[in-house]
Amino acid sequence: MAFQEELSAELAELRELGRFRSLRTIAPLPGGRAEFEGKIYCNLSSNDYMGIACDPDLRKAFYAQYPDIASPELAQSSASSRLLTGNTPAYERLEETLSSLYHHRAALVFNSGYHANIGILPALSGDGDLILSDKLNHASIIDGMRLADAEFKRYRHLDMEQLETMLKSLRPKYRRVFLVTESVFSMDGDAADLAKLVELKKKYDAVLVVDEAHAVGVRGPAGTGLAAETGVADDVDVLIGTFGKAFGSTGAYAVMSPEMRSYLVNKMRPLIFTTGLPPVILNWSRFVLERCVAMDGRREKLRRMGNRLRELFRNAGLVTGGESQIVPLVVGEDRPALETAEKFQKNGFLVFAIRPPTVPQGTCRLRFSLSAALEESDIEAMGKIL
Ligand SMILES: Cc1ncc(COP(=O)(O)O)c(C=O)c1O
Repeated sequence: MAFQEELSAELAELRELGRFRSLRTIAPLPGGRAEFEGKIYCNLSSNDYMGIACDPDLRKAFYAQYPDIASPELAQSSASSRLLTGNTPAYERLEETLSSLYHHRAALVFNSGYHANIGILPALSGDGDLILSDKLNHASIIDGMRLADAEFKRYRHLDMEQLETMLKSLRPKYRRVFLVTESVFSMDGDAADLAKLVELKKKYDAVLVVDEAHAVGVRGPAGTGLAAETGVADDVDVLIGTFGKAFGSTGAYAVMSPEMRSYLVNKMRPLIFTTGLPPVILNWSRFVLERCVAMDGRREKLRRMGNRLRELFRNAGLVTGGESQIVPLVVGEDRPALETAEKFQKNGFLVFAIRPPTVPQGTCRLRFSLSAALEESDIEAMGKIL
């Protein structure tokens, strides 16, 4: 069969399984709204948890800082990798701001959370090492483990007992052991027991890597994440945050020891072999980080809305879970999930079915991703549909 025909056959199979994906054009609007196919929806599928990305006033305040729109601080390219000439002053200022938010630990900024996760573990681990990973960790963490020379094994989601059993038997066989987890999980909205993970990493002399993509901005003092909320941020060896979700920007960061930062600058391929982020993005990220410190009101609203939506689902006898601004509605198979999503869409709520390979087979769900930009009355309106 010719290559194109093979591709067509595989795509037909995906259609058959209800797993065909295509790109939709969606225009985000203020107030947690979005325009899709000519209709205005309440957007429940964005990770703009704090309502920053869709906040026109914040955007105006950012640009108002620069009366000269040709300012190099608004340049749209860094035109080089960081190790050549792309390490603009905006990088240094952003990393200093991050460092001051995390008890003056060293900070390093990356082009995206995906870059961070496919680069950090392969750089830090090697032959003779073992990575132990929560089974529901994000695809970018899985890809990072695949790229690493270390072996990796997965423990059942949030199962600290199984993790300890694995550590007991496996730790002596490896040079270094890495524990890697998300803090708030992207598809289930539940949270890792970070205090226990810190205890285990100390007991078994392991390195702890925590991806806080869905927690920074939203949780913890000044939005510094779940580890900080739990009081263990300083014990997390590599704490990763992303700018593309709650912070309404682009890129990612990690806080760590100065040695580890220096090591990554020397060894981490997705940091070395890529063009740096443009100054306009780095400056916007810093602007948002500084504003986000004082957004406790938005964080509290988000928490209330998450709890209320879970309550509405449970009252309607539906399966939900988690404890965050990510509220899953677990439906099961692909087609019923697609049909349920369609029902919500017909009622003006933009929510989509999440299907394998993003989630395990038989756990297709709608993922309600809440934003502080929404009104609490939007949540009540959803309850009426149920
Ligand atoms: C847990 C987690 N880590 C990393 C990423 C990737 O981050 P980014 O979108 O900045 O590449 C995502 C999101 O897509 C995520 O959910």
